[in-house]
Amino acid sequence: MLPVPTSRKKPAFMTAEQLLTADLSSIGEPRGEEHGLTQLIRDSWTEVEPQVEEMGRLFYATLFRIAPETRDLFPVNMEVQRSRLMRALVHVVQMVDQPDELVPFLEQLGRDHRKFGVVAQHYDAVGEALITAIATTAGPAWTPTVRDAWVDAFSAVSTAMRTAAQAERGPASWLGRVVGHERLGWDLAIITVQTGEPIPYRAGQYVSVETPQRPRLWRYLSPANAPREDGTLEFHVRAVDGGWVSRAIVAHSRIGDTWRIGPPMGRMHVDPTTGRDLLMVSGGTGMAPIKALLEDIADRPEQPRTQVFVGGRTWDDLYDFANLRKFSYSNTWLDVIPVVEEEEGSSGAEHGTLADVVTRYGAWADHDVLVCGSPAMIRATVSRMLVAGTPLDRIKYDPFTMD
Ligand SMILES: Cc1cc2nc3c(=O)[nH]c(=O)nc-3n(C[C@H](O)[C@H](O)[C@H](O)COP(=O)(O)OP(=O)(O)OC[C@H]3O[C@@H](n4cnc5c(N)ncnc54)[C@H](O)[C@@H]3O)c2cc1C
Ligand code: HEM
Repeated sequence: MLPVPTSRKKPAFMTAEQLLTADLSSIGEPRGEEHGLTQLIRDSWTEVEPQVEEMGRLFYATLFRIAPETRDLFPVNMEVQRSRLMRALVHVVQMVDQPDELVPFLEQLGRDHRKFGVVAQHYDAVGEALITAIATTAGPAWTPTVRDAWVDAFSAVSTAMRTAAQAERGPASWLGRVVGHERLGWDLAIITVQTGEPIPYRAGQYVSVETPQRPRLWRYLSPANAPREDGTLEFHVRAVDGGWVSRAIVAHSRIGDTWRIGPPMGRMHVDPTTGRDLLMVSGGTGMAPIKALLEDIADRPEQPRTQVFVGGRTWDDLYDFANLRKFSYSNTWLDVIPVVEEEEGSSGAEHGTLADVVTRYGAWADHDVLVCGSPAMIRATVSRMLVAGTPLDRIKYDPFTMD
């Protein structure tokens, strides 16, 4: 098996999750000369990208032909997923020149994949399907050198995932029972799920869940509480337009439903050793991991001075602000500022997008910064903060989606 290639200049300041939001990876310091292997992959991918739908069909057709048993791991209706696995594969393979950050993420992903029932042989089948699909689609751009580059990169990615999965002794998933369903609006609900034994997650991490309403459609959610001995997890779920899973969870979850929950992922955390003040920026249900982190910080012997901005389009979007403000009254290290984009009925709040308001206060260069929310909100906030002078290595975020 080939070793993970090393890059000539590694952006060691980026989290693995940052690497997955490729458009952000170009912001900040120049990355220097690209590693040859990754460059070959990226160039050949540009040729194939316009035909990604066709490549997706070919990928799954090949996979299900050479390893028919893998069909049952995927949703019955493949259309609803729009080639998530294949797109994820291509995305990750293109990041292979940044192993210091990518490998820890792949290790989490490999442990997480056990919940699907993925076993070691499936990686070879997926690799073959990927190479076949891309070779057929790429046409003349597919030279032996390009092929070697894809094979090497896939091999490095799958080795990291497979090895971590094989070494893991913990459960592949946990069963949880829905014990609370509080509807906060037509598109928002707080769901409380209780597992038999507590899941060993850290405040700020996320987990994937599978619900009885949408079998085999796993989605990531962030617990809104620090780990509890009774194993309860609160999830804030917003129904997105056209969303298969989020709409079903908000509208149709019932007390007594059984959820399957995957192993914890993500690296969002507050490092108590930096000694720096903290800035947290949260949009929409990005409030969930922020709440978990605040609960965790409150339990520590010492707390950093913490500034939280909570944003939404309207005041109604700040669904949990009243609770957060109450929490700040009894925790003097914490200050919270509401931010709304539309002015109507929002006196007492700052106006503008989170990106506008946060950067209005300065560069926050001496703070550790956590940003949680939708991909668009994260992109806008992080890029504006970088322009304002916040160092990239101080900013942490997890992607809300790879879409
Ligand atoms: C690390 C992480 C943590 C997350 N934590 C939470 C959480 O705590 N609470 C929560 O409600 N969601 C959270 N999400 C988002 C969640 O996993 C789903 O992506 C989201 O609920 C949509 O799933 P769906 O099946 O309803 O939509 P899909 O059927 O997958 O997609 C339908 C449409 O919605 C768009 N879409 C997908 N995701 C989003 C999004 N986040 N915002 C806006 N549009 C989107 C898609 O592009 C597509 O057009 C998190 C995602 C990640 C990656
Ligand atoms: C080798 C490297 C692999 C990588 C980088 C990878 C990555 C991913 C990622 C990131 C997702 C989640 C996508 C999302 O929800 O946004 C996913 C989903 C999934 N993966 Fe993998 N995966 C790999 C290998 C495999 C293998 C070998 C199998 C076994 C057949 C597999 C089966 C699945 C299934 C069933 C899903 C959920 C259904 C879907 O989203 O299409 N994966 N993969």
